Amino acid sequence: MIFRPTKKTIKRFAELLLKGEVISFPTETVYGLGANAFDPVAVEKIFKIKKRPFFDPLIVHISDYRMFDSIVENHFDKRIVEKLIKRFWPGPLTLVLPKSPLIPDIVTAGLKTVAVRMPDNPVALSLIRESKVPVAAPSANRFGMISPVTAIQVQEQLSHKIPILDGGRTSVGVESTIIDLSKKKISILRPGGISVSEIEKVLNQKISLKNKSIKTVAPGQLKNHYSTFTPLFTVSSKFIYNLLPYANRLPVILIFWKKPSLGNNYIKWFSKDGDSKTVCRNLFITLHSADSEKKKAILVEIPLLNKRDGFNYTILDRLTKASRGNERSLFVRTLLHKYI
Ligand code: TXA
Ligand code: MG
Repeated sequence: MIFRPTKKTIKRFAELLLKGEVISFPTETVYGLGANAFDPVAVEKIFKIKKRPFFDPLIVHISDYRMFDSIVENHFDKRIVEKLIKRFWPGPLTLVLPKSPLIPDIVTAGLKTVAVRMPDNPVALSLIRESKVPVAAPSANRFGMISPVTAIQVQEQLSHKIPILDGGRTSVGVESTIIDLSKKKISILRPGGISVSEIEKVLNQKISLKNKSIKTVAPGQLKNHYSTFTPLFTVSSKFIYNLLPYANRLPVILIFWKKPSLGNNYIKWFSKDGDSKTVCRNLFITLHSADSEKKKAILVEIPLLNKRDGFNYTILDRLTKASRGNERSLFVRTLLHKYI
C-alpha cells in the first residue's frame, strides 16, 4: 500500500517501526526498506523480505547527532569525520565507523563497524525523528536487482505487502557513496551520490578508487547486482551509433549517454547533454523503463570517460555490475552480423 506523507501517516509509520514492522520510505538517493535498528527481530524481517543473505550488512539512517553518538564507538579520527559530516550531511554519504554495542550484530552482519548516514529527504528525516530510533535500511529492491527510485517501483519489486511512504521520484537517483573511516587508510567502498573528487577536496588528500563494496564482506558471492530483468550489455559509442539507423528493427532497446540527434521509439538516453550528474539521476529510472519494454536485450553506450571526472565512477560501477554475467561478445557479434 502506498501512502502520501502527511503528519498523520508519518506518525503511523513511526508507530509501525516501534512495533517491529518493516516499512518503505523515500530518501534522496533511492527508496529504503526500513526497520528499527535497535530491534534485531524487526531487522531480520528485512533480510527475509528482500531475500538478502545475512552476510550483507545494512546502512543505519539517523536524523540527528545524538543518534549518531549512540550508534558509533568513540575511537575514530574526529577531525576527518567532522569535516565530512559538516560538508555532506544530510546527504548521500555513508560513513563506516566502529560500532557501538547498542547496534545488534544482525544489522552489521557481525562486523565491528557500522555504516551510518543522515538522508537529505524531509520525509525520511521526519519519520526517523518521529520514531526516535535509528532506522536500518537497505535499498527497497529485491536482492540483486536495481534500486527503486519511485514508490511504484518498490511495490512492483517486492512480493510482500509493505506499507510505502510516497516521496515522489528521488532527487539523486543512485545510492550513497560509502567511505570506510574505520581503518588507517581511508577508502571508498562504493561510489555513489557524492563524487570522489568532492570528498578529496574536503579532506585535502587523494583516495584510492578501489571499489571493495560487499567483496570485503563476502568475497565473490555477489555476482549479479543492480540487475535488470532484461539482460543488459554495455557497448562503445561507435558500436551503438552504428546501430542507431536500424533501431526500429532491432529486438533491443538502445540507451545513449546523451540524446542522439536521430530519435525514435526504440532508443532512450540518460541525459540531453551528457552531464554526469544528470546521467546519474536518470540512470535507474531509464533502466527501469527500458526493462519494462520487455525486449530481448538492453544495450547501453559507454563513451570513453575519465573515471575521476564528476560522477563517471558511480555510473560505470552500476552499469558494469548490471551487465556482469551476460555473454556480451556473443550477443553483440550476432547483432553486428545480422544488422550491419
Ligand atoms: O543510498 C543508500 O545508501 C541507500 C538508501 C536507502 O540509504 N541504501 C543502500 O543500502 O544502498 P544497501 O543495503 O542496498 O547497500 C548498502 C551497502 C551494502 O553493499 C553493504 O555491503 C555495505 O553498504 N555496508 C553496510 N555496512 C557495512 C559495513 N559495516 N562495512 C562495509 N560495508 C557495509
Ligand atoms: Mg542495494
